[in-house]
Amino acid sequence: MLFSALGVSALLAGNALAAPAPVPDGGVGVRPNDTAPVYHTMTDFDFQSLNLGLNQEWIELDLFNYGVERFSAEEFASAGITAEDISLIQFMANQEVGHATLLTNILSYGGRTPAKQCKYKYDFETVRDFVNFCQRLTRWGESGVYGFLPHLDSRPSAQLLLQSITTEARQQMIFRQLSGAFPMPVYFETGISQSMAWTLLSPYIVECPAENPHIEWQNFPWLSVTNEPSLLVDGYEAAITHNRTSLTEPGRQVTFEWDAPGKTTGYNSSYNTTVGGNVTDLTPQYAAWISQLNVTYTPLNVTGNNTGFTYQPGGVVFNTTDDGVVNGTMFIALTDTDLYVTPYNLSLLNDHILAFGLYQAD
Ligand SMILES: *[C@@H]1O[C@H](CO)[C@@H](O)[C@H](O)[C@H]1NC(C)=O
Ligand SMILES: *[C@@H]1O[C@H](CO)[C@@H](O)[C@H](O)[C@H]1NC(C)=O
Ligand SMILES: *[C@@H]1O[C@H](CO)[C@@H](O)[C@H](O)[C@H]1NC(C)=O
Ligand SMILES: *[C@@H]1O[C@H](CO)[C@@H](O)[C@H](O)[C@H]1NC(C)=O
Ligand SMILES: *[C@@H]1O[C@H](CO)[C@@H](O)[C@H](O)[C@H]1NC(C)=O
Ligand SMILES: *[C@@H]1O[C@H](CO)[C@@H](O)[C@H](O)[C@H]1NC(C)=O
Ligand SMILES: *[C@@H]1O[C@H](CO)[C@@H](O)[C@H](O)[C@H]1NC(C)=O
Ligand SMILES: *[C@@H]1O[C@H](CO)[C@@H](O)[C@H](O)[C@H]1NC(C)=O
Ligand SMILES: *[C@@H]1O[C@H](CO)[C@@H](O)[C@H](O)[C@H]1NC(C)=O
Ligand SMILES: *[C@@H]1O[C@H](CO)[C@@H](O)[C@H](O)[C@H]1NC(C)=O
Ligand SMILES: *[C@@H]1O[C@H](CO)[C@@H](O)[C@H](O)[C@H]1NC(C)=O
Repeated sequence: MLFSALGVSALLAGNALAAPAPVPDGGVGVRPNDTAPVYHTMTDFDFQSLNLGLNQEWIELDLFNYGVERFSAEEFASAGITAEDISLIQFMANQEVGHATLLTNILSYGGRTPAKQCKYKYDFETVRDFVNFCQRLTRWGESGVYGFLPHLDSRPSAQLLLQSITTEARQQMIFRQLSGAFPMPVYFETGISQSMAWTLLSPYIVECPAENPHIEWQNFPWLSVTNEPSLLVDGYEAAITHNRTSLTEPGRQVTFEWDAPGKTTGYNSSYNTTVGGNVTDLTPQYAAWISQLNVTYTPLNVTGNNTGFTYQPGGVVFNTTDDGVVNGTMFIALTDTDLYVTPYNLSLLNDHILAFGLYQAD
């Protein structure tokens, strides 16, 4: 009423009601005369990182659909998962179609052929195992992207990938809830390198179309925690959250078995495992616990050919009460040295890794 009575242009001219949006010094791509964003890869690093991400989106699409089709409503119900929950998983599969479309568009620049969907293998037999596998797979999917996102040459592509991975983060949490776990037991979600993520993903891909670009990241030998606890043992059903007894605690003896390098992995027998480029002795010295903002080392006691143990470390990020550096679904590497790395240079650890795996701390 007031504006139309006075006339908008008369009101605004030379008036303090109009002001340019402030752009403090610095920043990239935030001024009208800055180069307009282009949403494509700029380097091989970008292409290989995003194509790895695309392979991850494709397996998620397959996995969520497969689980929904394989199990009956009764089987889901016996795990505390309702018809509405099943629809949510189905919606997540649809989200993956969108994510795969987005990455395919970004990667197609310059006439390149992005990865197409492959054939996969899974080793779960029950609904509980299915949702538990989903919370593990989305854990490395999410962390695998955080590890490279700020290192991409193409910031516009990073923006789009960021907007997909925040959705994936929600999927990860929901699968923890469907597994009866505490949904988000850490203050910070960790990043891992592309080679770490590829190591965890590759065993589940059986066959890919011939035109899929070769994945240039490394496959480390597989690390198994032979006394790894499971979220499923205590019989907690799907829920928004549960207060439950921690699965592990500092001082716990954690036993390992790991593969020697030179094992075939990935699709079509196209990839071999290798140890880090700086490793000169095949006997690992440390376990590296990768979670939150931290990489924490504990000495490894080697007990045989590719077996050994260590003790779970304590230590916290910020809060001494509930912010332990070991919690949730996290990562462990066996290394030849206790290299000091921080979240932005964590990939420098690659050259010192002898085996890599997951750890279900909580
Ligand atoms: C863009 O505009 C700002 C403010 O007008 C000016 O300071 C800056 O030099 C311009 N940048 C380029 C690349 O033209
Ligand atoms: C993998 O094997 C399948 C079946 O033999 C074949 O169709 C496909 O082209 C192969 N892919 C690659 C990347 O070699
Ligand atoms: C849940 O755990 C929190 C902290 O770990 C505690 O303060 C709270 O009393 C617990 N609540 C219930 C209902 O057990
Ligand atoms: C894997 O290693 C074996 C044995 O060293 C070798 O014969 C094979 O060519 C390698 N395959 C790839 C894909 O590098
Ligand atoms: C790793 O190896 C490279 C050469 O391959 C060498 O330049 C570098 O110093 C080594 N780094 C460490 C930490 O040993
Ligand atoms: C490694 O474990 C064995 C068996 O428990 C023990 O005898 C040995 O002292 C341990 N070595 C180290 C360095 O902790
Ligand atoms: C390790 O392997 C070697 C050769 O395969 C064998 O002689 C040795 O007994 C093994 N050691 C242990 C502790 O299993
Ligand atoms: C974990 O990282 C945080 C942030 O850098 C640091 O404050 C804390 O001391 C680290 N905790 C341990 C146990 O190293
Ligand atoms: C740490 O957590 C405790 C209990 O969970 C809370 O009371 C306290 O305020 C937290 N301290 C900080 C510094 O966040
Ligand atoms: C780990 O997370 C649980 C929630 O699942 C929390 O109750 C516990 O305090 C955390 N442990 C540590 C050591 O921070
Ligand atoms: C990683 O970055 C930290 C600083 O955040 C630095 O102190 C450390 O030396 C770096 N690690 C390597 C292996 O370069």
